[in-house]
Amino acid sequence: MTSAPDRTPKRRRVLPAGENGSLWETRPSCGIFEFRGVRLRLMVEDPAEILFPTDCGLSLLSALNGDDAPVLEGVNALDLGAGSGIYSVALLAAGAERVTALDVNPASVAQTVANVTANGLDGTRLTCVTAPLEEYTPDERFDLVITNPPHLPYDPTYARGDGLETALVARGGGRAVYDAVIDRVDRFLAPGGSLLMAHSSLADIPRTVAELTSRGYETETIEIFEMDIPLLAYAEHMETLQTRLKELRAAGRAEFDGSRFAVHALLFRRPPGPVSR
Ligand SMILES: C[S@@+](CC[C@H](N)C(=O)[O-])C[C@H]1O[C@@H](n2cnc3c(N)ncnc32)[C@H](O)[C@@H]1O
Repeated sequence: MTSAPDRTPKRRRVLPAGENGSLWETRPSCGIFEFRGVRLRLMVEDPAEILFPTDCGLSLLSALNGDDAPVLEGVNALDLGAGSGIYSVALLAAGAERVTALDVNPASVAQTVANVTANGLDGTRLTCVTAPLEEYTPDERFDLVITNPPHLPYDPTYARGDGLETALVARGGGRAVYDAVIDRVDRFLAPGGSLLMAHSSLADIPRTVAELTSRGYETETIEIFEMDIPLLAYAEHMETLQTRLKELRAAGRAEFDGSRFAVHALLFRRPPGPVSR
């Protein structure tokens, strides 16, 4: 079964250009933002171990805050790859009934709990899981799954095996975590539920859309954000990273122009009935 192609008029926002993929010279550790009228504060104790939200992560937050986002009040949500817990905090503040924050990085769980508590939100509505999503088998189904997977291609020259690498880099030319989400989303989402994903143009957006569409999911592009390729963490290895990206582009698996790429805020709706596999 295939569903109708995505004919949504796409709003495109252009973020400012910086240096090394960042407007800032160092990674911040604290920020304040407003979400649905609530002022929220986000801390990251160790920005070398837990990713402070990048432009890519913030673009999905912006889409989640917009008019085209799914209903958040009363939902049971899964935050896949929670990192600092920014989406868990926003979802709880917006009235989600329950949020499960999952991350393979154990430091993420402590940071997510600390951020939920520091914002005066009800910690009893938060469940934290430290596990790779490939091994997570929940005994419930969620109304909403939100995720911003790592999207830069892995290369042994810049591998450093820390939390920042797990957050930014993935095997399979940057696709490994997208592929794991696609593979398991039917086990996570309730029929009729929604997957909201920040999808990088460096990691083959058409492939993800084609795979989920072929299973009967409806796709909507909520917004497109143009921004710098995030190279701050890999400034020393910029040439190698750019070479890997150019190889992927030549193979039709990445889209970018110079140092600029795009993040698509994609909403996939699981059909109410059975999905075709
Ligand atoms: C790009 S960061 C996003 C963090 C946060 N959601 C945000 O937008 O700022 C990706 C997150 O996914 C986690 N991650 C990477 N691979 C994973 C896997 N296989 N299973 C679960 N979490 C994973 C990383 O540890 C990291 O926290």
